[in-house]
Amino acid sequence: MNNTEYNEAIEKLNLWSKHYYVLDDPITTDEVYDKLYHEVVEYEELNPKEMQENSPTQRVGDMISEGFTKEPHLSRMWSLEDIFDKAGLDKWLTKTYKLDNKITFYCEPKYDGASLNLIYENGILVKGITRGDGTIGELITQNVKTIKSIPLAIEHKETIEIRGEVVIFKREFERINKSRLQAGEALFANPRNAAAGSLRQLDSSITAARNLVFLPYGVGVDSLEFKLLSDKMEYIYSLGFRMPPQRAVTKGFDEIEEMYEIMNRDRDSYEMMLDGMVVKVNEISSQIDMGYTVKVPRFAVAYKFPAVEKITTVKEIVLQVGRTGAVTPVAIVEPTDIDGVVVERATLHNFDEIERKDIRLGDKVIILRSGDVIPKIIKVLTHERDGSEVKVEKPTKCPVCESELLQEEVLLKCQNLECDARVVNSIMYFASKPCLNIDGLGVKIVEQLFREGFVKSLLDLYELTLEKLLTLEGFKEKKAQNLLNSLENAKRSDYWRFINSLGIEHIGEVASKTLAEQFGFAWVDATKEQIVECEGIGEEMAESILEFVRVNRETIEKLQTILQPLEPIKREEAKENPFKGKTVVLTGTMSESRGAIKDMLESLGAKVSASVSKKTDFLIYGEDAGSKYDKAEKLGVKTLEEEEMRALYN
Ligand code: IVH
Repeated sequence: MNNTEYNEAIEKLNLWSKHYYVLDDPITTDEVYDKLYHEVVEYEELNPKEMQENSPTQRVGDMISEGFTKEPHLSRMWSLEDIFDKAGLDKWLTKTYKLDNKITFYCEPKYDGASLNLIYENGILVKGITRGDGTIGELITQNVKTIKSIPLAIEHKETIEIRGEVVIFKREFERINKSRLQAGEALFANPRNAAAGSLRQLDSSITAARNLVFLPYGVGVDSLEFKLLSDKMEYIYSLGFRMPPQRAVTKGFDEIEEMYEIMNRDRDSYEMMLDGMVVKVNEISSQIDMGYTVKVPRFAVAYKFPAVEKITTVKEIVLQVGRTGAVTPVAIVEPTDIDGVVVERATLHNFDEIERKDIRLGDKVIILRSGDVIPKIIKVLTHERDGSEVKVEKPTKCPVCESELLQEEVLLKCQNLECDARVVNSIMYFASKPCLNIDGLGVKIVEQLFREGFVKSLLDLYELTLEKLLTLEGFKEKKAQNLLNSLENAKRSDYWRFINSLGIEHIGEVASKTLAEQFGFAWVDATKEQIVECEGIGEEMAESILEFVRVNRETIEKLQTILQPLEPIKREEAKENPFKGKTVVLTGTMSESRGAIKDMLESLGAKVSASVSKKTDFLIYGEDAGSKYDKAEKLGVKTLEEEEMRALYN
């Protein structure tokens, strides 16, 4: 790579990254990106003096700070006045129209995250500063550079402050908390806290790993001459920043209200959490005339959505026993309406979490419900205690079968394989969609079958008969026959579904597919070494599989005989040949379709890849071979004509 190619590579990588992180419209694959990225890394190692400030390698986050220094904003960062309903909007509009009656309004989401000020000089991101007290914040530039939706360089050379909110998408928040739970670490209360906490990490590699997202909402110091805020914001988006999921210029009460209804209705479907809609006067000259009170601008207001966090009281803590025996506590709370849904239960994850938060019966707590996630307790209001609150003891016995519970890392587990709760839940799991997908086995019916003694294990399901079912309350001929048909239809399923349906701890759909593909029926005889060699399967999962097979081998075999799942067609291990284990790239027109040649090479044990790199062993070419051929020649990759290839393995 020479200097021109290096600069071109940076342009390319930044464009690809913008398409991925800003426009949500990827235009290349990870593989292609990574390859060019590594070429850039190599070049920079050899030519450190030529390193560009907007190189994506500047985002890695390998800086550990001692602490953050204070840094003034170039202009003050304001906060907003809140309104909560139509009356509030009406009052604000009346007040604002008095200052100027020829105005329109720019409406955009109010993001629930942490505010951030970015300073660009000569088109380069030079500072990232937290809001702080609005005048002075903390300098966190290294962390900010790890956020992929923040451009390191922009096509705007005058000094500009770009303000916005740093958020964590809801899905990412769940992912982070799930891994913190597994690691026995304290959970983040909500995406806002997670975003703010991640921004202020001394080790920027932690920030980098959190997949933060920046959404611009305004500018501070600038020399832009737009008349309308909406145009100014379009310009900011065009510099390479993310657009809001929804925005509009509105005229007057009805249109603002309509926009508010739309955003509130759709809020669950947005990737980030919103806590309202911000309404801003769109005419910049009017904004300037209106100015600020001591605390907030007169030209903007935050129209808050109904809260997703509410205060309630913990009435009881009940224990749930899952199919794997894991005992999880659930808080029963004083029923509370959260944005139209009455919440009565909140997850507590595990007893460590109860201890860490020190949740007691009778405590006032803040619960959070957002979108499709299960409501959770995010804070205990300890200052509201009156002394009548009762500590919750960790149970020692299973609430269902009374057998001794075992502490397995952060989890409490019932060890009794015949525990009623485990049996019912494992049947429910067996019948669920990603397993055998058996219609008609809802929780009520499974509990009934279990109570009546018809089904005590998975195998018993296939002992059910019409006569037996007809003795059950609520079962008429049709319902009974439907259930028997569904059970019959579950036979001859894909093999991975069969493995998944067994409910082996830590083994879900993906791992089941891997096991099925890798070993077929022989997975029950695979050794630990063989299992951990599979992609995506680690020690813990392997041990779980071995333990499950050790205890349940007979049941697995019986079930398999009954269910006759289909064994995946396994590729035979290829015989020795020059292509086995080699990486091959195809180019040009050949005597057969490229797909057919790819299949043939794969059956010889080769990996067929799309682009030529140093790792390529052979480039096989047909007529009109183009740039891949040139590249192979340049890299010294061995090239073979189609005929030569055939000669080699025949
Ligand atoms: S405008 C002069 N717009 O909410 C205007 N703020 O309550 C000042 N926020 O500190 C802010 N989304 O961190 C504005 N679309 C949005 C916003 C937004 C979230 C945050 C921001 C601010 C706080 C004010």
